[in-house]
Amino acid sequence: MSLRRELLMALALPLAACEWFSTMSDPPSIEPHERAPLLAAEHSVPLDGLPDYDLTNADDRVSNPQPSSPSSLEAGRAYYDTFCAVCHGASGRGDGPLTRRFPAIPAIATAQVAGYTDPYVFALISKGRGLMPEYSRIPVSARWDIVNYVRTLSPGAGATGASGAGTTGDGGAP
Ligand code: HEC
Repeated sequence: MSLRRELLMALALPLAACEWFSTMSDPPSIEPHERAPLLAAEHSVPLDGLPDYDLTNADDRVSNPQPSSPSSLEAGRAYYDTFCAVCHGASGRGDGPLTRRFPAIPAIATAQVAGYTDPYVFALISKGRGLMPEYSRIPVSARWDIVNYVRTLSPGAGATGASGAGTTGDGGAP
């Protein structure tokens, strides 16, 4: 009996001394969600050069520096096709391939979106809204190109009407 106890003691002691076992499973590095993210130091300037803005104050804080030129629209279309069409559809009717699994995706070729200001659409792309993800990884100037391009999708947009020809006009009062 006592031999067994001695054996147990002999085993337990070195194990208790081995604190490095626990430090290996819990290293000093900061794990995800272990604490609140570090905030930027006071008076630091964001790399994108934009002031702090969100959906509620974008109108006062940012403005569209990009005229809706052919080259801006061309760039905007390329970015739209890459990042947005998968959900909102190539012509903004809310019929992108993802809508088969994710039916809450709205059409954006709508009078509603046409009524949004450029800064609001920019903030929506940059910060996301509801179930829409944020796309701050798209360069700032390209986000304005997308804003310009989204304008051309809306019903009645632009005198050229090139993209308006096929709109479904759901509930469309003339
Ligand atoms: C993963 C799918 C998805 C992608 C990709 C996506 N969106 Fe959205 N978008 C949504 C959803 C969902 C909503 C509705 C958000 C809400 O209810 O607040 C939305 C809302 C919008 C609206 C507002 C519609 C309204 O009637 O208020 C605009 C404009 C818009 N998206 C533009 C874009 C642009 C531009 C891109 C590409 C940079 C993009 N979206 C990429 C899912 C997506």
